[in-house]
Amino acid sequence: MQLETSRYRDTQQSIEARVQDLLSLMTLAEKIGQMTQVEKNSITPDDVKQYFIGSILSGGGGNPDPNTAENWRKMVQSYMQPSLETRLGIPLIYGSDAVHGHSNVVGATIFPHNVGLGATRDANLVERVGYATAKEILATNVHWNFAPAVSVPRDIRWGRSYEGFSENTAVVSELGAAYVRGLQTVIGDDRALGSVKHFVADGGTEWDSRADMPYTVANNWQAASENWRIDQGDARIDEETLRTVHLAPYKDAIEAGAENIMVSFSSWNGLKMHANTYLLTDVLKGEWGFEGFLVSDWMAVNQLTDDFYAAVVQSINAGLDMVMVPFDYKTFISTVTEAVQNGDISIERIDDAVSRILRAKFMWGLFEHPLTADNLLDTVRSEAHIAIAEEAVQKSLVLLKNENDALPLNTGQSLYVAGIAADDIGLACGGWTIEWQGGRGAITDGTTLLDGLKAIYGDDVQYDADANFVDKADVGVVVVAEEPYAEGEGDRDDLTLSEADSQLISKMREHCEQLILIVYSGRPIIISHVSDMCDAIVAAWLPGSEAQAIAPVLTGDVSFTGKLPFTWIASMEQLPQATLPASETPQWAFGHGL
Ligand code: BGC
Ligand code: BGC
Repeated sequence: MQLETSRYRDTQQSIEARVQDLLSLMTLAEKIGQMTQVEKNSITPDDVKQYFIGSILSGGGGNPDPNTAENWRKMVQSYMQPSLETRLGIPLIYGSDAVHGHSNVVGATIFPHNVGLGATRDANLVERVGYATAKEILATNVHWNFAPAVSVPRDIRWGRSYEGFSENTAVVSELGAAYVRGLQTVIGDDRALGSVKHFVADGGTEWDSRADMPYTVANNWQAASENWRIDQGDARIDEETLRTVHLAPYKDAIEAGAENIMVSFSSWNGLKMHANTYLLTDVLKGEWGFEGFLVSDWMAVNQLTDDFYAAVVQSINAGLDMVMVPFDYKTFISTVTEAVQNGDISIERIDDAVSRILRAKFMWGLFEHPLTADNLLDTVRSEAHIAIAEEAVQKSLVLLKNENDALPLNTGQSLYVAGIAADDIGLACGGWTIEWQGGRGAITDGTTLLDGLKAIYGDDVQYDADANFVDKADVGVVVVAEEPYAEGEGDRDDLTLSEADSQLISKMREHCEQLILIVYSGRPIIISHVSDMCDAIVAAWLPGSEAQAIAPVLTGDVSFTGKLPFTWIASMEQLPQATLPASETPQWAFGHGL
């Protein structure tokens, strides 16, 4: 029987009174359940109820089948319902990585990845992107978005560089806070919760620093993949650098209303962040007075040591409030229970963790509105959201080079287009799109640059992915792209444009008077060996599902305004790019944009 008349249900009471009332009614099992976050395919709705689970998540690609917004809505409801049927009826909170729009959902608006938003330098626009994303996730009953990343990627070999707005802290701070404000805007009775990540200095790790960390394959599954070389590594920096470069954006995000922070897989001077009491508890919750809750990253607790009991005790005592387990929740729950019984985790620490989680659930209105307004479904890739995405695409474009009046294009000119990416939605979206690693092709609804050019030039534009043209056009446009990747799968010790793409550019050069190169990438890539062949070069980052919007900028109907959010290096010797000495000239400096 539910305690419907209890004080915690009374919206006239203060949030603190509601939290304290509810906490006083909870058993230890109910408390530990709140601290448990489980991956959706690893649990049944019955177990959600039996174990009082506080949160469920979809990891990258954790999609229903068929993958539609309507099915997402039903899927989330199927987990929410049993939580409402527990003794105290505490709603769970469902999370997913809507890191550039609701990017797991087929048919959602896919905005440019953060690197592109960084190029816009437009906080108002980023706020609107956050707001639009909130509507689309709420449409599917998802309340919690694991975004924004306020990473400050100092070395672009990192496969998560594109998740950061910029290598520059001030840009990250401003745009991160704007995103939080937009995302967390109240929408009718509903509101989305952000997760500011990954705390802290995830973008400050050193290449190969993971190699000498005390990992075993058992506690570090990526150790089995040789690609992961800087992601989840060690940031070897002093405290002043940590604070000024990497910590500052969290302060602005908290001031903008952030109530959740995700802890980083990475380490600071050899100590895993998930064990760092000083930063998680002393600085964040003490010095800064942060009242929100901290969530672990995916199975990150297991990385502390092979002894799971010790890892759980260490991380919860360091200040972790909720654990993204994400699979074996039964072992997690029994381990925490045992640790409390043994006195290795105090009940005060448990109560503090649970209070923080409950506070957010009350603040976000989950008790009153566990399920969201269904008319929000109309906003999923609505005209209004496409317009915001197209604006973001256009403002993200950085004109790196423009000689011989190559741009703007003149619609009277004949036009050849080459490169598979010119007509490929998956390549324009990059990682964290439908699947964790993203993928090529028509993985979701959207438009391509080729669509945009056809809309302007009609059938006069000729497209051949491999540039197999016979004659010569006035203008040739070549679109090259990085293959999609996510996390450490995208760590690279060579960022040079591929041989095949370099050859494609040479081939197109023979078939046009003027050559325009468009680069789709999650970071600067090395193109110094082909740039002399190009009359104009445009960095388009990972534009997302509305890439047709690039075309009007090429024709001059919309102006270029984007500025480089990262230093564009000329060679691999210039890494890490963010600390390139002034005596070294990069290909294009931070802030460049014609
Ligand atoms: C990533 C996080 C993400 C989480 C859930 C982790 O591997 O590091 O950024 O939010 O998975 O998908
Ligand atoms: C999941 C991601 C998660 C990653 C962690 C993947 O299987 O889909 O969400 O971030 O594992 O490595």
